[in-house]
Amino acid sequence: MARINPSILAADFVNLEHEISRISTADLVHVDVMDNHFVPNLTFGPQMVGRIQDVSPIPLDVHLMIDDPDRWAPGYAELGAFSVTFHAEAAKDAVALARRLRDIGARAGIALKPGTPVEPYLELLAEFDQVLVMTVEPGFGGQSFITDVMPKLVALRGAVGERDIWLQVDGGVDESTIGIAAEAGADTFVAGSAVYRGDPATNIAALRAAASAHRH
Ligand code: DX5
Ligand code: ZN
Repeated sequence: MARINPSILAADFVNLEHEISRISTADLVHVDVMDNHFVPNLTFGPQMVGRIQDVSPIPLDVHLMIDDPDRWAPGYAELGAFSVTFHAEAAKDAVALARRLRDIGARAGIALKPGTPVEPYLELLAEFDQVLVMTVEPGFGGQSFITDVMPKLVALRGAVGERDIWLQVDGGVDESTIGIAAEAGADTFVAGSAVYRGDPATNIAALRAAASAHRH
């Protein structure tokens, strides 16, 4: 079944506990960590994510849009995040970092910006529990879905085979684009504006239905 991970980047930052209570039908809470270096925007650090972890009944899917994840990512695993995804473009040693995250007990994810080729990672898939294919340039919510990256999902889906490696899309995912990503091979969908614009429970149900209707 399609996993729907709402991004709290689109939520009200001063009422996060309440905003998380509005997405109780979600699979995971997607937490976008931005450092104003890897991307030109700034959100939460480990202290905030730790508090979100304390109050959230839903496990956290942490997406690190930061420089030097080799140094900082393990801290997010240590505070109890269910999954920790770092960017391929930022990591010095992606395989060593993924192994460390798994040792701590988190699922290890690797994220690719729209312009980053997938081929070098296809033979490394066993090292990761999920691959995040960015469908916008990372940094901001509310951008348009880039359909051109779908061939990366098709390649990943083929390479994953029967293994339980989740393929995630993030950026511009809404009721009209989610089917395109599902058909290309995605099974895990991050949506910010499309969830928090209006009633989150209704939106999550609509996204789930649209993704399932187009399942690969
Ligand atoms: C963008 C973030 C996304 C963002 C998606 O850099 O990684 O998670 O919240 O927002 P929408 O769904 O509005 O495109
Ligand atoms: Zn994200």
